[in-house]
Amino acid sequence: MRRLFVAGNWKMNTTMASAQALASEVAAEVARSQPNVDVAVCPPFPYLIPVGISLANSPVMLGGQNAHYEKPGAFTGETSLEMLVDVGCRLVVIGHSERRQFFGETDELVNKKIHAAWQRGLDVIFCIGEVLQDREANRTESVLSTQLQGGLAGVEPAQLGKLVIAYEPVWAIGTGLTASPEQAEATHLFVRNWLATRFDRASADAMRIQYGGSVKADNAKELLSQPNVDGALVGGASLKSDQFLGIIRAAAELSAG
Ligand code: PGA
Repeated sequence: MRRLFVAGNWKMNTTMASAQALASEVAAEVARSQPNVDVAVCPPFPYLIPVGISLANSPVMLGGQNAHYEKPGAFTGETSLEMLVDVGCRLVVIGHSERRQFFGETDELVNKKIHAAWQRGLDVIFCIGEVLQDREANRTESVLSTQLQGGLAGVEPAQLGKLVIAYEPVWAIGTGLTASPEQAEATHLFVRNWLATRFDRASADAMRIQYGGSVKADNAKELLSQPNVDGALVGGASLKSDQFLGIIRAAAELSAG
């Protein structure tokens, strides 16, 4: 079984005080329960350092929600991958649907960011997902294929150990709608088979594919128990420690068998 991976994407939420409190609660519970799962939190940029302090000596990983692919320089308002590394990030989320939708990120840009993140030694959570019209028109697989093809252009099988894919149906993000466990499983299987064709079967089988879209403590277990669902990328529910810890607990129970 692939090691389950639960990551919290805090988006543009929290204050410094609430961010530190949330991180401390997650770190304390993970230290106490020692779940056999990977856990990460991705706070807003201004709170990376205080949250990193709250996570000191914790296995909970710190991640960025985005970054620019260029080396540090004259890019007003941007944050470099070097800076994420410098403040203790182990990973970065790339290609989130909100970046694509509201900030015009293309598959080509996502691809540049993925390669650049690896060059700086960061792991990548690469997000893909279809909008409702695509799903209703039976275009989910072609949309995901295009995102995978573009986002992973030039990627070699040896690089896949530093990659996690997050399948996030856009219609399920922040809406309270969740893909059914069957829908999630079918789509994750499609993604894994796509990876096997593009790379090789062993690499595809080793890769983790997270599900994202209104994951909560009370639906986590049935989603995570699907054979090709290897974790969750959690938005809204990651802002409440009881919810986020409930999702981690569900993952830990499944990992314990
Ligand atoms: P949600 O967000 O859990 O609030 O639906 C998930 C995400 O956007 O990563």
